[in-house]
Amino acid sequence: NLSGVDIRAEIERLRKERNAVILAHYYQKPEIQDLADFVGDSLELSRKAAETDAEVIAFCGVRFMAETAKILSPDKTVILPDMDAGCSLEDSCPPEQFAAFRAQHPDHIALTYINCSVEVKALSDIIVTSSSAEKILSQIPKDQKIIFGPDKHLGGYINRKMGRDMLLWPGVCIVHEAFSETELLKLKALHPGAPVAAHPECPPHVLDHADYVGSTSGILQYAKDFDGDTMIVATEPHIIHQMEKAVPEKTFIGAPGADGNCNCNICPYMAMNTLEKLYIALRDLEPRIEIEDEIRLKAKKSLDRMLAMAS
Ligand code: 13P
Ligand code: SF4
Repeated sequence: NLSGVDIRAEIERLRKERNAVILAHYYQKPEIQDLADFVGDSLELSRKAAETDAEVIAFCGVRFMAETAKILSPDKTVILPDMDAGCSLEDSCPPEQFAAFRAQHPDHIALTYINCSVEVKALSDIIVTSSSAEKILSQIPKDQKIIFGPDKHLGGYINRKMGRDMLLWPGVCIVHEAFSETELLKLKALHPGAPVAAHPECPPHVLDHADYVGSTSGILQYAKDFDGDTMIVATEPHIIHQMEKAVPEKTFIGAPGADGNCNCNICPYMAMNTLEKLYIALRDLEPRIEIEDEIRLKAKKSLDRMLAMAS
């Protein structure tokens, strides 16, 4: 029973007492973003986790992100407010099936999106995030055969943009898949001239209408830079909180789903984290990420390649 507990004050007290750093993804609830020590995209959060000298990493994001922090910083205690905060891309790519896919294509290397399990990272050669994928791929010879998983939309987007023909795993993000092209076109008609910024996890029929395609940090940068006063945001709408803080004079509208509003595009996994659960995690140092060393070291190899090639 948390009644009578001043949650924010307790989080402040515990973060000092535990020497904890609170990392949050842009898709977290505004109240979590506002008390985090650092808010960022997947790549930036991985770098922070690898560099921090805090003893505890309280990761406000989804499980694969907290696992990445643990892989890179095994001596830290990594806590995740809700261990059920998964990801539909991770779910779409069971390790046994991914291993079989790899075995069918022995002459291909596996370039893998960070949105996957530790086991799939361990089966991969190089990990990428949406902000580093193009830079990393440009360092791989054109004649190298590649399988890319688990996000077919991100993979397809990079294939088209960079003239590659990576073999794609058929996974999707349920959040970005939910944007409606029809509703987006209606919204564009209501706001003539407003640019559309989209995450590459969106399907091609949404990306076709985008003026800018990029990672969450890329979209945030575009929000600051674009010339105009209104922008349509085709990614998880909690990122709008950072845009409104950075450029309060501009208006940001979340791209709609089939029902005409953007609430269906809230990531249900990211939304599992709450201030109350963060408080309990800092208090109990649970739920805690633990990974066997053997698998961790294999996954770390592919993540280390990402960090080196993305820098
Ligand atoms: P970013 O790497 O762009 O932050 O994306 C993470 C994610 O899960 C998008 O759905
Ligand atoms: Fe996974 Fe999509 Fe949620 Fe990102 S928005 S964590 S890809 S389900």
